[in-house]
This record gives sequence, structure tokens and C-alpha cells, in this order.
Amino acid sequence: MPKTVSVRPEHLADRHRPMASLAGLLREWLPRQRWFAGKDRPVTDLSVLSSTELFPGCLHLLVHTGQTGVLTPAGIPSAGDCYQLLLGVREEPEPGLERAFIGQVREGSLAGFAVYDALHDTRSAELLLERLRRPGGAGPLCFEADPDTHVPGGLTPRLLDAEQSNSSLVYGDAYILKVFRRIQPGVNPDLEVPGALAAQGCTRVPAPVAWFRTTEPWPATLGVLQPFLPDADDGWTLALRALATGDDFTTQAHELGQATADIHLALAKAFGSGVHDGTGLTAEAMTARLEAAAHCVPALRSFVPGLRTAFGALTTCDAGPPAQRIHGDLHLGQVLRAGREWFVIDFEGEPSRPLAERRVAQSPVRDIAGMLRSFDYAARQRRPWRPEWARRCREAFCAGYAVRAGWDPRTKHALLRAHETDRAVYEVLYEARHRPDWLPVPMAAIERLAIWGG
Ligand SMILES: Nc1ncnc2c1ncn2[C@@H]1O[C@H](COP(=O)(O)OP(=O)(O)O)[C@@H](O)[C@H]1O
Ligand SMILES: [Mg+2]
Repeated sequence: MPKTVSVRPEHLADRHRPMASLAGLLREWLPRQRWFAGKDRPVTDLSVLSSTELFPGCLHLLVHTGQTGVLTPAGIPSAGDCYQLLLGVREEPEPGLERAFIGQVREGSLAGFAVYDALHDTRSAELLLERLRRPGGAGPLCFEADPDTHVPGGLTPRLLDAEQSNSSLVYGDAYILKVFRRIQPGVNPDLEVPGALAAQGCTRVPAPVAWFRTTEPWPATLGVLQPFLPDADDGWTLALRALATGDDFTTQAHELGQATADIHLALAKAFGSGVHDGTGLTAEAMTARLEAAAHCVPALRSFVPGLRTAFGALTTCDAGPPAQRIHGDLHLGQVLRAGREWFVIDFEGEPSRPLAERRVAQSPVRDIAGMLRSFDYAARQRRPWRPEWARRCREAFCAGYAVRAGWDPRTKHALLRAHETDRAVYEVLYEARHRPDWLPVPMAAIERLAIWGG
């Protein structure tokens, strides 16, 4: 039996105490985590926002991290981020948990203890599921569940090894728990939206069956449990496979267009539709993002005049479909195919944007543009590039969308161009910062969009 330890009360006399022990370890460990947003800069400020002993030997922390020199997407200095950590605390290092090991504490009240990322630890993951199965509180944390769903106990957990911005645990291939890492105040759309869609009878999303949230330092969603689709492949994997084998992908793209329209129709029914309030998606906002990106990426500069005309269309062309809640970060990695059906997951929206902005009504064309960009990314994974593959998928996707939605995205080409341009500008900035080898991929789109007259 592994030795676990209760870390209260002498170890955690007040909520700031854990940092006296953990700050050094976490400063090293956090920037190495895939889900940590500011990897390229050292953590200069680290403080505890909330600390709860979830069960003996497992400490739930919300920590604030500050990094000098980090800018928000709007180009202003970042006020820092809040991250959720579940730490296993043991008297001695545990064989078999090397991957989860954060370090041995050298100072403070936890000196001598071994600290782990508890999500890697089977025993802690099992206890977390038990906590979700029994609604109730733990300090500022609150565990809730859909009263109509019975989640069985004893399911074996495994931590998903996907390229993720959060951490997900799969339980017995029956459920998946997404533990949000970067926490913002408010309801996370990844809980709110699938719940609302399921209530509309939409079967294209796995609906939440249990979730947990906090009231401290402010109300926020922390994690969501939903059914796991065991035999599903994500759209990105399927697209690359089709590209590698030369198989047709237009049938899948057509069905994906239909699925996207179904989601949009259900979202409009659940949340209503109307006029966009302008947040973040006006021609001015997009132009400002373009100019900020061109400031950082010289290769973009000569295209700025051509791209600016794309955003002009937002004010001069017909308004397009009414604004409504959308997915917000739709691409091939956010759709799963099980059998012959497409399912849509990950309704968080663009994680770099504030939650409030992600929850406003926006043009559904934004999601369509996201998927079209994703076909282009897939087609440019390997040389020789296959832009004609992306073009065929794009046609098929739009045609499929039109079948269900009653309007064809291709008839809104000026709007589509504006949203694709905004997305490609974001990609250029991302690639320039994180994967310079990939910069030619969005730059090829930039070139097309700058001269594409609409
Ligand atoms: N309900 C599900 N069934 C099967 N696999 C899932 C499910 N939800 C998520 N996944 C898998 O987990 C991966 C990451 O999930 P996602 O919600 O997109 O998290 P993130 O916000 O970290 O991107 C997906 O790409 C998919 O492979
Ligand atoms: Mg995702």
C-alpha cells in the first residue's frame, strides 16, 4: 500500500503556506507542461489562490503565475494566468510514478515529502472519479452530477497522451474527464454548451454527466466528465490517413459540413440568435490584430494592404447569417468520427481569449472558416503540398453545410474571406512564435487571401 499523507493542518496552516514548500519545484515544472501557456519565459511570480485537501495525500491548488514580458493577444502585458494543479504528496518517492514526479520538497512545512502530478497516479485518479460520483462540497470546490446518469464505480483510469491544452483521464473506456488547466472566472463553455445542446436533443456531442467547480478565488468551472467514444478517430488523423493513402475524403467532408450545420442549428435554438455585439470581431478589431501580427512578423507586411480590404467586407457586404453561439475553435482535431457519424467536442473556444468574449454571439462563418483552414493545414502536412485536396474538401464541406443549414457558405465569400484571413493571421503569429518551420503554411493562405478579390 503506497504511503500517502494528510497534508493538514500543520502543513497548510494558511492558504499561502504550500508555496513556501512548492514554489521552487513548480517554477521549474510548470513551464515544462504541455498545457502551460507561457513556456518560453520563466515564471517570475507564483502564488496560491485556493488550496484544498481533496482527499488524504491529494492537494488541489489554484495558482497564479506571472511572467514578465508576456503579452496578451491584444498586445498588452499579461496580468498572469491561473492554473489548476492536483498534487499528490507522499512521504517517499513512489516507484512506477517517475513520469508524474514533480520533485522532493526541500523547504517549508512539506520539506522531505515527494510531490506528484496526481492525475498520473492511478489511485488519485480513482478517488477523483469517486468524488465526482458523489455530489457534494470540499472547501470551495463543488462536485455536481446529472441526476439521470449513473456512473459506475471501479472504472480503471488512464491519462490521455494526446496533444492537449488540458489534461484528460479516460475511465474504463466509458467516460472521459477533462481537467481544465488554465482557469478563468465564469462558466466554461465546454460544460455549458454540450449540456445545452444535449437538452435540445442534439446527439452530435457527448453530454456532460458530472463536473466540478470552485467558488474561490472566483466562481469557475474546473472539470467535466462525459461519455467516451471508444472507437472514434479524430478528423485530423482521418484526414492525414486519407492524404497518405490517396483515399477520397470528400464524402467525410460533406458529412462534416452537415454535422457542423446541425451543431449551429442546435446552438441557435439553445441560446438564440441575433446581432453580434461587436466584441473582438469587427473590421477594426481584425485590422488591429493584423497590424500587431505584421509588426512581429516581417513576412506579413507586404500583404497588409491586400488583407485590410478583406476586413472591409465585414462592414460593407450583406451581414450574412445572424450572430449566435458558435464552437469558436473548430478544426479537424475537434471532431470525432465513430461509425459513420461525426461528433463535435471541445467547446472551450480559443483558450487565449477571455471567457466572456468566447461566450458572445458570433458569426457561424467563423467556425466554417476554421474548418476550411484546417483542411488546408492537413493538405500541407507533407510535400508535395496538395492544395487541390483542400479545395475539394472545402467544396464538399460547404455543400454539406448547405444541405442542412439552408444557406451555402460559398455564397458568403466576402465574409468567409474576412474570417479566414483573421484566422490565418492568428496562425502566422502562432507559427512565427512557436514553430517557425511551419510559417509557410499560413503564409500560403495569406498570399491567396490577399489577392483573392472576393
Ligand atoms: N468524448 C470523447 N470520446 C473520445 N475521445 C475524446 C472525447 N473527448 C475528447 N477525446 C479525445 O481527447 C482529445 C482532447 O480533447 P479536447 O476536448 O479537444 O481537449 P483539449 O481542450 O485539451 O484540446 C481529443 O482530441 C480526443 O482524441
Ligand atoms: Mg481540443
